[in-house]
Amino acid sequence: MQHFINLADISNEYLESIILFALKIKKSPDEYYGLATGCILATLFFEPSTRTRLSFESAMLRLGGQVISVSDASSSSTKKGETPEDTCRMAGIYSDILAVRHPVEYTPQNMSYVSSVPVINAGDGSNEHPTQTLADLITIYERFGRLDNLTIAFCGDLKYGRTVHSLMQALDKYPNNKFIFISPDELKMPKKYIDIANTNDIIETADLENIIPDIDVLYMTRVQQERFDDIAEYEKLKGHYILTKSKLNLAKKNMIVMHPLPRVDEISTDVDSDERAWYFKQAEFALFGRMALIIDLLDLNN
Ligand code: NCD
Repeated sequence: MQHFINLADISNEYLESIILFALKIKKSPDEYYGLATGCILATLFFEPSTRTRLSFESAMLRLGGQVISVSDASSSSTKKGETPEDTCRMAGIYSDILAVRHPVEYTPQNMSYVSSVPVINAGDGSNEHPTQTLADLITIYERFGRLDNLTIAFCGDLKYGRTVHSLMQALDKYPNNKFIFISPDELKMPKKYIDIANTNDIIETADLENIIPDIDVLYMTRVQQERFDDIAEYEKLKGHYILTKSKLNLAKKNMIVMHPLPRVDEISTDVDSDERAWYFKQAEFALFGRMALIIDLLDLNN
């Protein structure tokens, strides 16, 4: 049985097959309605979410399947001390596929070891968020027609931002990509991800404005408030980078701005109408990526 847990275990071939499939679904989503009739997706979300949970649930409903859901840890047996593995065993009896978000790193992976049904990692602490990466790759592929030979800048909270950890590993599987990591010193990309990168083409800087003319993909991120023990530290770091229309004027005409959302204040709303602002399209691609993934993991496409 196949799971979708972390980028180290997901090949480029597999990513590409899901990306192309997602774009096919986007063209005529109605053709796929009914494919998951009789199947149930369980969304087990032990951390807040709007987009990810809704888009998983929407994806399943658009395939004609059904959804059961835990969206609040305090209303589930976790509150009584149940382990995630036991929750997973139960959920696998009541459903055919699980999407799991958990604040503790590697929990979806540990659940997958005992699971009788496919497990999708919908975000584990500060570690990874591979289905966001699917949405991100679909966005980049749709815009540039390739996933290689690109200069990608990740800006903001690179320490706790799980979306950047997964996307960086995915893009590192493709040749001639150059990474620019833009963050304050306190929120730098963890060394463990830089150490495993194949590419040596990496720049670390704190300065967005000077580097913006070089960038093809600018991936903005929110400072992850929920990961800070000291709220004063968060207050100090938030608002460090704000992409405004005037900063964007320094960038290439054919670059794009991405953001996994939710945004706080990293991108001012005057950027939204710029044709380089791709973050809402990115959220739309997430739906088709998740539809494609559900079909594939449930083996419904043959
Ligand atoms: C991201 C996440 O949960 O990591 N959100 C999302 O799923 N689109 C990014 C974030 O919360 O900052």
